Amino acid sequence: MCGIVGAVAKRPVARLLVDGLKKLEYRGYDSAGVAVVDASFQLQRLRVVGKVRELENAMHAYTFAAHTGIAHTRWATHGVPSEQNAHPFISHDEFALVHNGIIENHAALRDQLLQDGYQFNSETDTEVAVHLIHKNFLQSNDLLTAIRQTINELKGAYALGIISKKHPNRLIAVRQGSPLVIGKGQGEHFIASDPLALLSITQQFIYLEDNDIADITLDNIEIYNKEHQHVNRQLHTLSLSLDSVERGEYRHYMKKEIMEQPDAIASCLEGRLTEDHVLPAIFGPKAESTFPHVEHIQLSACGTSYHAAMVARYWIEEIAGIPCSVEVASEFRYRHVAPSKNSLFVTLSQSGETADTLAALRMAKQMSYLNTLAICNVPGSSMMRTTELHMLTRAGIEIGVASTKAFVTQLTALFLLALSLRKKPYDEDVKIAFQQLQQLPRLLEVVLKKDAMIADWAKSFTHKEHAIFIGRGALYPIALEGALKMKEISYIHAEGYPSGELKHGPLALVDPNMPVIATAAEGHLLEKTLSNLQEVRARGGKLFILTDQTNLSQQEAFADARIITMPPIHPLLAPILYTVPLQLLAYHVAVLKGTDVDQPRNLAKSVTVE
Ligand code: M6R
Repeated sequence: MCGIVGAVAKRPVARLLVDGLKKLEYRGYDSAGVAVVDASFQLQRLRVVGKVRELENAMHAYTFAAHTGIAHTRWATHGVPSEQNAHPFISHDEFALVHNGIIENHAALRDQLLQDGYQFNSETDTEVAVHLIHKNFLQSNDLLTAIRQTINELKGAYALGIISKKHPNRLIAVRQGSPLVIGKGQGEHFIASDPLALLSITQQFIYLEDNDIADITLDNIEIYNKEHQHVNRQLHTLSLSLDSVERGEYRHYMKKEIMEQPDAIASCLEGRLTEDHVLPAIFGPKAESTFPHVEHIQLSACGTSYHAAMVARYWIEEIAGIPCSVEVASEFRYRHVAPSKNSLFVTLSQSGETADTLAALRMAKQMSYLNTLAICNVPGSSMMRTTELHMLTRAGIEIGVASTKAFVTQLTALFLLALSLRKKPYDEDVKIAFQQLQQLPRLLEVVLKKDAMIADWAKSFTHKEHAIFIGRGALYPIALEGALKMKEISYIHAEGYPSGELKHGPLALVDPNMPVIATAAEGHLLEKTLSNLQEVRARGGKLFILTDQTNLSQQEAFADARIITMPPIHPLLAPILYTVPLQLLAYHVAVLKGTDVDQPRNLAKSVTVE
């Protein structure tokens, strides 16, 4: 998704801006640009289609002795990726603007501005904003007033960074639904859509609230709310190390992040359990008084986070005995929802900024839910700040667009939630699962050692166009997640199905060309799963089975199947363990196919537009 970086400093800023954009590359983009106020107080701009390094190369031809500037990576929504559609946009050589999000009423505003004599050079929704600032400035001759008037006319969710040659040491930041932070320095200040962009410059951040406008100069940061009142926003110190965002020995971030999963889960569990129970306040101090009243759970999320929510439904109903509903946030937010009595609304999000999930959460907050809870991986994210009850998954920064360690830590957090919601003492079965929960990092290490075997499986997929993933019970969402990973990074069309559904349609697709990847773990559905696998075999489908049944490979019925033996695990926890080989499979197939593993085509890490 689009990225914003801005700076006002005593030192030259062009290099800092480009370095910041590089840190945002993981979010996904198709073009990049920078605009600065140069030493002669003129606006200079450079834009390229493609990677930030191309922008960097193009910049060598210029001497940007500039102390104020804005930069952007664009992920196309309105208009194709092209230099003309790339940000920053400029009006009358006076104002430059970068924008994340969507301006919904751009068409009507464009018509009006055309009538007023403004010329448009792009197909974007953004360009109206910079011309409106120009138009409004002509009336007030005051930058802040012009920007306030402009915001009143714009509809949608967005963040803006604005500079003007008339105000060479001034940077204006607007947050209206899309994330934006201010990085605080000494005699220099910065803005970014993600603090990661600024980590090499500062660790001190101010998170803007919705409707805030920040007027930023070398020595001062003034923030105003919707009512134009001056407000103070808290200064946060982030203790993130830059090492955690380096690839180290790995060829791709995704592989690094898969291999980090044992540590990520250990970190998610740390300090949250005693020997025999979950600590009461891990979802926030109010959780203890709220949870005993919960009679229903509504989960809502997108993509991989939605799959985590689907697994959680099995856990919450089985462990806590509380009815649970799950819905993708983009549907939930537009439905006439009738909340159940004493229902707790739970959102999951790696980024904590996904537009649909955030909108669903905000909607739920206006409704009769008992309370709202967010499980996120990014401290200070909008969802963390919007909810009274929340938990940080502590996976560490995830750079690969394909979510891996964020997913397994979401599952871990959700398992803790299911245990915390249980009103009765643990029975023997739950006690065993609780003990094994603490063994998960070690068990994941065992699974990660199967990497070479999975890489070998991957060779059978490189020329395939389709694949089917199957699972039953809580392993069904893991089949969906395996299929999502495969499509996302290898571009193979993959579908996930509950194994029991095969005969209701998808079996028609099965022939010797169709790989079927199955999870068959110990549990009450094992026998049924094995029968479903025979249905595939009878149609000549090529079976790839992950199972803890050591005798399966000796059985005649599975003689021609490829089998990887998994460590034994309590059935409740199998979804966490069985996720890992599916991530590795997608990874190795993508590497063999030569796709852009960490930044797959058309996708973005943090989906801040709906
Ligand atoms: O940041 P979130 O967890 O809210 O993101 C939701 C989805 O966009 C995300 O999980 C997406 O599906 C991933 N690329 C999956 O790997």
